[in-house]
Amino acid sequence: MNNPLITLENIDVKARDKRILSIPSFELQKGEILGLMGPNGAGKSTLLKTLALLEPPQAGTIKFQGELVSDRSSLAVRRRIAVALQQSLLLDTSVYQNVAMGLKIRNKPRKEIKTQVHYWLDIFKISHLAKKHAYHLSGGEAQRVNLARAMIIQPEVLFLDEPFSALDFPTKVQLLKDIKSVVEETNTTTVFISHDLMEIKYFTNTLAILIGGEIKQHGPTEEVLSFPNSASSTFIGEWNHLLS
Ligand SMILES: Nc1ncnc2c1ncn2[C@@H]1O[C@H](COP(=O)(O)OP(=O)(O)OP(=O)(O)O)[C@@H](O)[C@H]1O
Ligand SMILES: [Mg+2]
Repeated sequence: MNNPLITLENIDVKARDKRILSIPSFELQKGEILGLMGPNGAGKSTLLKTLALLEPPQAGTIKFQGELVSDRSSLAVRRRIAVALQQSLLLDTSVYQNVAMGLKIRNKPRKEIKTQVHYWLDIFKISHLAKKHAYHLSGGEAQRVNLARAMIIQPEVLFLDEPFSALDFPTKVQLLKDIKSVVEETNTTTVFISHDLMEIKYFTNTLAILIGGEIKQHGPTEEVLSFPNSASSTFIGEWNHLLS
């Protein structure tokens, strides 16, 4: 199956003349749930921001559904993408208003917004928090609001940068189950950065190992973890050694 949603070609990202990402070619397939793993500073967040069109690279091309993304088309494409980070960055208002925001800025009718907000609050089990101020939520509650806010726009791609890393284990497990079933039921293409092998194994179908700004291996998650190549084994091998 070859149905690329996002294609990268000859991508170079530099910060103060230092090359921090170099991707000769990469395809994110429609329906893929891609994990990104690698050491701190490997370039995972930079790759996610490049794929999500948040930071234009210094060199290379990005295609979305086969169409070249230009400065002019970038905003329209970005509206079909949702991003959730480790810090939920909620707005200074109620949970309801936070979740409603994506549809409000898309000028959806009020009635539809209300129906959709209640639907997504229910899916993420936070209906009881609708009127609560976003700044008074626990970390786990805030991350649920963050995910509801991302999913309400029915994104073509959902980008998750370490969304669960600050949560306690039972909270993380429950949220992981919930987001996995939402993503699978809606068939949402997802990119998921994590340092947690359990999260990666449970949630993703494919895995890319990033080291020093380069993708060292990309394939089915089980395969990459069981058969790391020589470049990625320095990273994956540590995990396998620890868990064996
Ligand atoms: N705006 C910037 N200016 C200078 N250097 C930057 C900038 N953004 C990222 N970098 C550098 O690029 C490298 C990759 O950063 P990035 O945040 O993508 O790593 P990461 O793999 O997400 O790491 P972590 O696991 O710690 O989140 C790091 O060395 C970082 O210091
Ligand atoms: Mg990062």
